[in-house]
Amino acid sequence: MKTPLLKKQIIKIFKKFGLSKDHALISANALINAELVGAYGHGLSRLKMYCDRISKKVINPKPKIKIKKISQSIIHIDANNSIGFVAADIGIKEAIKSAKKTGISLVGIKNSGHYGLSGYYAEQAVKKNLITFCFTNAPPAIAPHGARKSLFGTNPICFATPTSSKVPFILDTSVSVVNRGKIRVAARTGKKIPKGVALDKSGKPTIDAKKALAGVQLPIAGFRGSGLAWMVDILSGVMTGGNHGGKVKDPFDDFSGPQNIGHLFIVIKPNLFVANYNQRIKENIKRIKRLPKIKGVKEILYPGQNKFKRYKKNINKEINIPTNIAEDLKKLNA
Ligand SMILES: NC(=O)c1ccc[n+]([C@@H]2O[C@H](COP(=O)([O-])OP(=O)(O)OC[C@H]3O[C@@H](n4cnc5c(N)ncnc54)[C@H](O)[C@@H]3O)[C@@H](O)[C@H]2O)c1
Repeated sequence: MKTPLLKKQIIKIFKKFGLSKDHALISANALINAELVGAYGHGLSRLKMYCDRISKKVINPKPKIKIKKISQSIIHIDANNSIGFVAADIGIKEAIKSAKKTGISLVGIKNSGHYGLSGYYAEQAVKKNLITFCFTNAPPAIAPHGARKSLFGTNPICFATPTSSKVPFILDTSVSVVNRGKIRVAARTGKKIPKGVALDKSGKPTIDAKKALAGVQLPIAGFRGSGLAWMVDILSGVMTGGNHGGKVKDPFDDFSGPQNIGHLFIVIKPNLFVANYNQRIKENIKRIKRLPKIKGVKEILYPGQNKFKRYKKNINKEINIPTNIAEDLKKLNA
């Protein structure tokens, strides 16, 4: 389907479920962006879930979002159980404004929900020539190192910087071997998942996506990944007042209350210590790209380059909608 038409449909659906025109537009843009960068697990495949959560009153379609300025550079937002896209959009815009004024800003958000791709928000700040860190916690998916039960989410870590070219550096990675969205898509479409990604309920390695969802996902790099997942839970959950320690509810399966996810954004002017950051980052990237390459590698990419390429490739194409999602759209639109 053509992007503008799809966007119109998504906006119509969100408005039907009670979101304001502005909030519907913010949410539709985030979902479309996920499709365009190829992050299908965070795109249309989640539309029905958001609508179900609104219907069951665990996402507040008309939130009264409170923005508390703790200082010129520190802001605490209570999102009042808004859809996560809206909380994060307000949060990153506040962070940008404040960092432009003060050099650095810290924004903590509580009572939010799943916000999709961290890189989507980081990109907004990078486009304003700012360095950005984004953290969010997520429902239990990864077993802490040494534990048999999931507790940490796939808790993405995102670091982004302008590069003085039109392609930003955006490292945006889950701390699980693969992100949960990809496993959900595999479960819905009956595809297998790679080896070494998850264990089933009894602790045995599995390539069955459904068994993986019922079992545990593995963190990247063993105890190191487990430690990173923990750090993200502390920064985005413990510190902001959001849920933490395994209390974030699964958005697809648990409608017993709002998720109360926490997000933390840190936004920094790049030239605080050196006047020529742009030149230095350019030189830094150049040195790495010039390294001798292993066989089969044409170019050493920096994080974000691959997504940028996918976005450029997809932007003028129609968005492919799998049959099961087309059915969702039809039902939600009815
Ligand atoms: N909101 C949530 O609860 C939640 C949870 C988990 C993940 N996510 C989102 O899901 C998205 C996907 O996460 P992921 O872990 O699957 O990402 P990924 O594995 O696709 O990519 C991870 C990072 O590696 C970079 N990369 C990929 N190939 C590369 C290459 N050849 N050379 C250099 N860099 C390369 C990417 O640009 C990216 O920055 C992210 O945007 C993340 O924020 C959200």
